[in-house]
Amino acid sequence: MANVHDAAAWNGETGERWVRMSDMMDSVLAPAGDLLLQQAGPTSGKYVLDIGCGAGATSLRAARIVVPDGMVTGLDVSGPLIGEARRRLANAKLTNATFEHGDAAHWSAPAPYDIAMSRFGVMFFDDPPGAFANIRKALKPGGEMVAITWNRPELAELFSLPKQVISPFLKYPPPAQNLYEPGPFGLSDEVYTRKVLEQAGWSDISITAQDLVLKVAPEHIRDFYNNTPLPALVDAQELDEGPIRAAFTAALEDRRDDSGSACLKSGVWVVRARA
Ligand SMILES: C[S@@+](CC[C@H](N)C(=O)[O-])C[C@H]1O[C@@H](n2cnc3c(N)ncnc32)[C@H](O)[C@@H]1O
Repeated sequence: MANVHDAAAWNGETGERWVRMSDMMDSVLAPAGDLLLQQAGPTSGKYVLDIGCGAGATSLRAARIVVPDGMVTGLDVSGPLIGEARRRLANAKLTNATFEHGDAAHWSAPAPYDIAMSRFGVMFFDDPPGAFANIRKALKPGGEMVAITWNRPELAELFSLPKQVISPFLKYPPPAQNLYEPGPFGLSDEVYTRKVLEQAGWSDISITAQDLVLKVAPEHIRDFYNNTPLPALVDAQELDEGPIRAAFTAALEDRRDDSGSACLKSGVWVVRARA
């Protein structure tokens, strides 16, 4: 099946959409960023590669930690997102980060890194063993990779809630999710992920489940619908959008905590391996 998360998509409308929603998604995905930085543990002087860095939130956080002698490279296949990351870098006035437009499956590192890290940026490869072998080559011997990936779709309310809300409105079932094709759940089966990393030559592999609570801030609840798969499903099945949007917003309202944020429980994997 064609890879709907390929370079063309990330350089086209998908990438543009991520740029438009990058501030909102950084706020929602903040707990995953915290987990990544805590697990990857960059310290002063380290050289860090952030794979599939998107608009660069985690790269910029790492760059602030590795000063004064460390460096961070954010790598992403999406031109629009790298453009946004460079814009943020200029605003942040950091001099120890760069953003590179390239495919992690083929990119040649200019110098070896201590740490490769990723927040949801390594599940989209056409040839996962080949891509992870290439990433391994970018690290110093013994260097570590830490990636946060999604656990199975039913464990992530960020994905399961929209699906649950739209199901009574659907004219026919949407295509079944294939866990082994490039996409958000491309590494959601830990047995498969381990095999991929072993084939790619990594050692000391550990894959640990973590439960996060992602929060949609009060000011984002009304627009969050646009950041879900719902608009695409509505278009594909020519559905009446109004009631679906209203039902989804109501479902978020039901999940508000004391601060007014909507809480979405989401299971992730912490994938760790040594080069
Ligand atoms: C779900 S987004 C996550 C972005 C970012 N890490 C974050 O947490 O905001 C996935 C990112 O992976 C990037 N990506 C997908 N395939 C890639 C590849 N082969 N090489 C480099 N980046 C890739 C996409 O362009 C996108 O920015």
